[in-house]
Amino acid sequence: MSEQQMSRRKFMKTTACVAGATLAGRSILLDPGRSYAAPRSVAAGDTVRMGMIGVGMQGSGLLRTSIGLPGVECVAACDLYDGRRELAKEIVDKEIPTTRHYKELLDNKEIDCIVAAVPDHWHKQIVVDCCNAGKDVYCEKPMSHTVADGFEMIAAEQKNNRIVQIGSQRRSSIVYGKAKELYERGVIGQVCLVEALMGRNDPCGAWEYTVPTDLSPETLDWDTWLGTAPRKPFNALHFTRWRCWQDYGEGIPGDLFVHLLTGIHHVAGITAPPKRAFSMGGLFRWQDGRDVPDTLTTVYEYPQFRATLRVTLNTETEEATRFMGTLGMLEIRNDELTVVPQSGVDYEPCTPGWPRKMRTDFAEQWEKEHEPKPATLSTLESTRFYAPPGYDEDREHLWNFFESVRTRRPSVEDATFGNNAALACHLANYSYFNNTVASWDAGKRKISG
Ligand SMILES: NC(=O)c1ccc[n+]([C@@H]2O[C@H](COP(=O)([O-])OP(=O)(O)OC[C@H]3O[C@@H](n4cnc5c(N)ncnc54)[C@H](O)[C@@H]3O)[C@@H](O)[C@H]2O)c1
Repeated sequence: MSEQQMSRRKFMKTTACVAGATLAGRSILLDPGRSYAAPRSVAAGDTVRMGMIGVGMQGSGLLRTSIGLPGVECVAACDLYDGRRELAKEIVDKEIPTTRHYKELLDNKEIDCIVAAVPDHWHKQIVVDCCNAGKDVYCEKPMSHTVADGFEMIAAEQKNNRIVQIGSQRRSSIVYGKAKELYERGVIGQVCLVEALMGRNDPCGAWEYTVPTDLSPETLDWDTWLGTAPRKPFNALHFTRWRCWQDYGEGIPGDLFVHLLTGIHHVAGITAPPKRAFSMGGLFRWQDGRDVPDTLTTVYEYPQFRATLRVTLNTETEEATRFMGTLGMLEIRNDELTVVPQSGVDYEPCTPGWPRKMRTDFAEQWEKEHEPKPATLSTLESTRFYAPPGYDEDREHLWNFFESVRTRRPSVEDATFGNNAALACHLANYSYFNNTVASWDAGKRKISG
């Protein structure tokens, strides 16, 4: 083997190792979407007038962000708890009508669309009522509380020809958008496995929110808040920490998997729920009366690849999603995407345990056949794409919704997309609670064990 051959081959091997160690070679700043092209004026006639339903943890942020967008005005707000109606007025910073009865917003002709951030067991009824009242609606994730809910929501959206946008903001993120573009270009080859994970380690992260000090049956319409949930006497913990109970939420899948799943479905162009899911987890630490696990791993079967999702509320860990292909990996962490190319080929003859003569003879021939041609040598340099500091995908997502309302452009995350992600959450829970592999039957629209 010539010295030149040696050094060229060594070079390739070294660069491959560097790439394997995920050292970013280049960093590229991503261009944020149109919502960032501010200050962009919107013609007076194009102002979208929204009504807000649910002004809690998420709703208060959505309201603040919405009214900060050009051409968006909040004209009324609704919440069942007095403190949240007061908060709505504080955020909007002007006297707006507020009510405990959301149907008053649906009857209000001034209102073009609704942004709803209520607990999951209320999503279906509010979306269906909005569509039937002719209002477009942004509804928080996960879209549905039950399998049947999702199909009722799709039917209401389609029958009334309304814009329904589900609030999993990754669907509008520039980071996920870049990952999607590279995925579709085949940059990482055939993707066989996807993994997504996150971990928290604090009471707030485990949904142990502090009960508001004035919360009582006088300040909250508890009976209405219960909605479809079984009747029970006023319970301040259920109101404040509803994610801990299956009557209102879907535990880890509905709260956290759904974001990871939305990212995976978006990037990989998934348009159906996974075929099967198997979950393993447990309730180890947060013995506060909750009936959902605090640790969960689910393996999903998608036709094109398998996916593993893992979330724990007991240890702080990185949040990452990795698409693993035959030509490398796309890794998303927070507001960054790293592309780690891999050649998928041997860099030296693969002759483990061969005697010397046989090995060297084979190597000589192999080197001849595998010598890279001049000008075909490419380095395996990883590339990092990152969003600008302060980038907010919620803002992008809301902007997309209001643009759809304004222009009738189809929703970027319609009820069908939202339903597929939500069904993946229901599959994970079905498997966990029934201790079985959960299968999706598309014909019957049912999960079975
Ligand atoms: N996209 C995200 O990143 C994100 C983050 C957090 C929460 N969420 C979602 O947002 C939704 C709300 O979560 P949250 O943490 O803000 O809950 P929250 O309990 O803090 O707030 C919900 C509010 O809705 C009100 N409400 C409930 N039913 C109502 C009804 N029928 N009419 C009027 N008001 C009603 C409650 O009184 C409460 O003030 C959930 O679906 C959750 O999954 C999404």
